[in-house]
Amino acid sequence: MRILVTGGAGFIGSHVADDLIQAGHQVLVVDDFSTGRRENLPEAAAFEQIDIRDGEAVIAVSKDFGPQCICHQAAQTSVAVSTREPIRDAEINVVGTLNLLQAALSVGVERFVFASTGGAVYGEVPNGQRASVGTAPRPLSPYACSKFAVEGYLEAYRFEHGLDYQILRYANVYGPRQDPHGEAGVVAIFSERLLAGQQLQINARRSEGDGGCVRDYVYVADVVRANRLALEGALGPKIVNICSAQGTSTLELAQALGVAVGVTPQLRFAGRRPGDVERSVLDAADYLRQFPATTLEQGLAETVAWFRSR
Ligand SMILES: NC(=O)c1ccc[n+]([C@@H]2O[C@H](COP(=O)([O-])OP(=O)(O)OC[C@H]3O[C@@H](n4cnc5c(N)ncnc54)[C@H](O)[C@@H]3O)[C@@H](O)[C@H]2O)c1
Repeated sequence: MRILVTGGAGFIGSHVADDLIQAGHQVLVVDDFSTGRRENLPEAAAFEQIDIRDGEAVIAVSKDFGPQCICHQAAQTSVAVSTREPIRDAEINVVGTLNLLQAALSVGVERFVFASTGGAVYGEVPNGQRASVGTAPRPLSPYACSKFAVEGYLEAYRFEHGLDYQILRYANVYGPRQDPHGEAGVVAIFSERLLAGQQLQINARRSEGDGGCVRDYVYVADVVRANRLALEGALGPKIVNICSAQGTSTLELAQALGVAVGVTPQLRFAGRRPGDVERSVLDAADYLRQFPATTLEQGLAETVAWFRSR
């Protein structure tokens, strides 16, 4: 297939593009390098440096390449930035996606795969529970709102134009190539700090000294596999949580990473970060029965090996 991958210079998109090329597909990456890096681009992929907010450019490049599928990973991905700049967040995540949907109609793509966020659209997930796709979304940040808005547009485009879509609601993704210098991406941040012999900071879940927020960490290879299945039309349900279904506190994560690196982490405890959801754990029982998640232990070992090799 010919597949247009947006955000293919970024963390997840570059792994997706690599995998699609390996599987024999033809890939065109569209990215503006706002957070992505040239070195992440697969050599065998065609590339166009385009901002998806530029609707004319998006349509022109789509007409030129003639994709059968669009795999949409590009986004303003930071919850904190979305809070500070909600309009820019919506311009990229909502209007940018609408440009791609219009392009999809203009070239008649067969399927549109969208990277949504299970980590954000469900909001707080109470202790002892997991959010499944049947759980009512409760977006609590502009980023979560923009991602959830796109989910609505996808259904509207299916209803109105028959566009086939697949929504993948990712939990907290980690793995090689994740940026360790942002405000998010705790596995990348901790890996780099541990390897440099630095302290790790545990931001409180409620009060300083607790184990920190609880998250569902999913290894990037599992996200890549889900994208391929989705693009090849082998996923079934229109919306799937891509997760491990395991809750891990920041403190537990720090300890597991210490084991992977072979050191005892030096910890510093800090207060709660405003805006952080306390607990987010997802469920995808049917999917995970068929496609079990990589264990945290193995995923962290591979991630640490990559950070060590840099
Ligand atoms: N990393 C996670 O834990 C996680 C969780 C849930 C959902 N997601 C979603 O997965 C997708 C990939 O995220 P990531 O973690 O790889 O982030 P990333 O920042 O590494 O990748 C995003 C890519 O999109 C590109 N991009 C941003 N704005 C653009 C624009 N206007 N035009 C063209 N390209 C643009 C960036 O340059 C970058 O290469 C995003 O849609 C994100 O919302 C990620």
